[in-house]
Amino acid sequence: MMTKSSALSLFLALASTSPQGGNAFSPSSIFSRTENSAVGVVAYPSSSALFATKKKIFIDGEAGTTGLQVRDRLAGRDDLEIISIADDKRKDVNERKRLINEADCVILCLPDDASKEAASMVDNDRTVVIDASTAFRVDDNWTYGFPELSKSQKEAIQSSKRISNPGCYPTGFIALIRPLVTAGIIPPDAPLTVNAISGYSGGGKGLIEIYESDDHEPWGAYGYSMNHKHLPEMAKYTGLKRQPIFQPAVATFAQGMVVSVPLHYSLLKENTTGQEVHDVLSKHYADSTFVKVMPLGESGAKDAGLLERGAFLRPDTLANTNNLELFVFSNDKEERMVLCARLDNLGKGASGAAVQNLNLSLGLEETSGL
Ligand SMILES: *[C@@H]1O[C@H](CO)[C@@H](O)[C@H](O)[C@H]1NC(C)=O
Ligand SMILES: *[C@@H]1O[C@H](CO)[C@@H](O)[C@H](O)[C@H]1NC(C)=O
Ligand SMILES: *[C@@H]1O[C@H](CO)[C@@H](O)[C@H](O)[C@H]1NC(C)=O
Repeated sequence: MMTKSSALSLFLALASTSPQGGNAFSPSSIFSRTENSAVGVVAYPSSSALFATKKKIFIDGEAGTTGLQVRDRLAGRDDLEIISIADDKRKDVNERKRLINEADCVILCLPDDASKEAASMVDNDRTVVIDASTAFRVDDNWTYGFPELSKSQKEAIQSSKRISNPGCYPTGFIALIRPLVTAGIIPPDAPLTVNAISGYSGGGKGLIEIYESDDHEPWGAYGYSMNHKHLPEMAKYTGLKRQPIFQPAVATFAQGMVVSVPLHYSLLKENTTGQEVHDVLSKHYADSTFVKVMPLGESGAKDAGLLERGAFLRPDTLANTNNLELFVFSNDKEERMVLCARLDNLGKGASGAAVQNLNLSLGLEETSGL
């Protein structure tokens, strides 16, 4: 990683040998660029690509929980221009349509029906739409925005004009299960269960208001209809033929999430061990910037490094990041294991993923700026 002062001296050194100098760029805009782009800007000042105007981003639904978070995450980006709707025009369909079509990328942070309506307003073939609702997650005309699914998924996102941003719980579940189904360890017809705990911010403004008032439940499981809206994407992108039984819960913390999948070895390929499951996940995510497979937690092993007080898997340690951590806790002798995914429900589970998908669709490498 280049320091600010070494980037500046490189900038000055190159500028003095360049016929056009680097006058169009203030040093402050160079500071926030990566080593390569700092060199590129100065060494090739006449390239039209480098002088391209900033990409215009419109966040439709900017006032909601996800919209606000996306906005925060894009603040300070000097490669983007955020275009916003005037307060008195929020309900003006024509104005929204104009902004949607003016943008290079629209991020829809709206309820499902409003998302469908907004997506139908695009009347050009240039604008990229990233939808954060459930509306298009299992629609074959949309690309599922989980780049870690596979190399081809990442490439599909890079070239897609319609990207559906994954649900928070499915992000954890799919990350754990998909590589194991692909490796033949979990049979596609396995009857799985998922237990999950989320920060209350996952419930949007309504639940935030409840949990930030005095009178609220300390913990609340839900999903008793056995028909949670995240189930279709959980099955589709893992390759499971049946939807799992899914029991989510919220509790008295704002941001964070643990998604847990308990497994009896009898559900798995014969002679599977915890180590083998861990190896498959480690290999799959070896090159990932944001997904990390944590050390195997075997029975009797010292799990203290993974568990708070040697006992608890805290859900909130990744708040405000785009990271996702995967855990395998196994007991080969007793033939039981539990797989866990930890993430920020508003980070990799929502706005972080939206920004990651935006970066990919703009052709930025995931690690740029890190
Ligand atoms: C996908 O797009 C095609 C072509 O525009 C259309 O015929 C089809 O109905 C779309 N499928 C869905 C699920 O919307
Ligand atoms: C599983 O392990 C048992 C005992 O070692 C062995 O007999 C059996 O062939 C193994 N099964 C497979 C599918 O490898
Ligand atoms: C997106 O790109 C920006 C600018 O390069 C970078 O700072 C940020 O870390 C990237 N975020 C993700 C989630 O990829």
